[in-house]
Amino acid sequence: MNTVALQINRRAVEASAEPRTSLADFVRDKLDLTGTHLGCEHGVCGACTVLLDGVPARSCITYAAACEGADVTTIEGLDDDEVTTELRAAFTREHALQCGYCTPGMLVSARDLVLRLPDADEQRIRVGLSGNLCRCTGYVGIVRAVQSVIEARRARNIAPLADGGRTILGPAGSGRATSSSSEPLTIRQALVPASEGTAPVRIPDFTPATVLDQRFTLPHAPAQVFAKFDDIGGIASCLPGVSLTAPPRPERVKGSISVRLGPIAASFEGAARVERDPATLSGRIVGIGTDQRSHSATQGEIRYRLLPLEGGAATAVELSIGYTLTGILAQVGRPGLVRDLAKRLVAEFAANLDRHMSGASSGRAAPAEFSFWSIASDVLRARLARMFSRVIGKGGAE
Ligand code: FES
Ligand code: FES
Repeated sequence: MNTVALQINRRAVEASAEPRTSLADFVRDKLDLTGTHLGCEHGVCGACTVLLDGVPARSCITYAAACEGADVTTIEGLDDDEVTTELRAAFTREHALQCGYCTPGMLVSARDLVLRLPDADEQRIRVGLSGNLCRCTGYVGIVRAVQSVIEARRARNIAPLADGGRTILGPAGSGRATSSSSEPLTIRQALVPASEGTAPVRIPDFTPATVLDQRFTLPHAPAQVFAKFDDIGGIASCLPGVSLTAPPRPERVKGSISVRLGPIAASFEGAARVERDPATLSGRIVGIGTDQRSHSATQGEIRYRLLPLEGGAATAVELSIGYTLTGILAQVGRPGLVRDLAKRLVAEFAANLDRHMSGASSGRAAPAEFSFWSIASDVLRARLARMFSRVIGKGGAE
């Protein structure tokens, strides 16, 4: 049992919790804040949504122990909140609830949309609320209520807040995560070049939410591959969707990655730093990026290790790709699909790199936009083919 000290609804709270206790159970059972509802307890329905450091987060899949020092607001803490008061009135007016079970989580997410969205765009409201499920009303009244509050506020010249007023980079609650600095890194600090700001620019270490291990081989000696990995421009040209936006320096590489996922196009602008260890032929690239359009942010790292093969004539490249994604794009990715996509992406990168190193290609080797959709279609086709062959195989065996 650990003691967790945090701020809940502007009140300092200290209580014991098992390492496995969720934030939802913590606020409900220890503090009697039962306005936070539990539906699926799997991070799917959104009934348990609270604000964690000002960002909507699912408390059923957030450990209370991970919220040490965090600022949590439950629906009870929004009693006097101006936006939530307007939303409550609009929900009543538009008949946006029946049993009310989803309503606390729905209001927390809706409040974030009201703060962020520049106008009452129905499509964006529906996408923004897609992580909150309602089992009884349908969504027409809910969307109409949110639309009406946004319209009323913009008519009163209340401007939207970029990122809902959020200033801390990374997933909800990550501002308190252990880092080399005691202060959380802000999005602006991270993206403003040192020459433009007064504070030195830091690219933080982080613990990725998802880690994928990949391996490929190249018909070139490890020393050659290691030297190639130092050619940042050349490596970037082999990565689909990646381009550099400034001359690279090892301590800071500025660039962007363009991603298309069906109708969602995102262009992450960001920066990375490169670390290399010639003694072990290994290295690490750690970076951060944000996409203003889809309000998505990412932190990522690639660790690599080169191992000799065939008596040193070839190289096995072991990659560990870790990332944390927040925002709309994070809602679309599914671990299995992302794993398959990463496999395809790495295979494409390996083929481009081999061509580049063999001198078969000069200039840009990879497409300027990484289309998840075209690769996803291939992946889905491959999955369907596997499924059918299993079914046919079974049928044949009977
Ligand atoms: Fe947390 Fe469903 S209870 S998302
Ligand atoms: Fe019943 Fe939404 S009002 S679940």
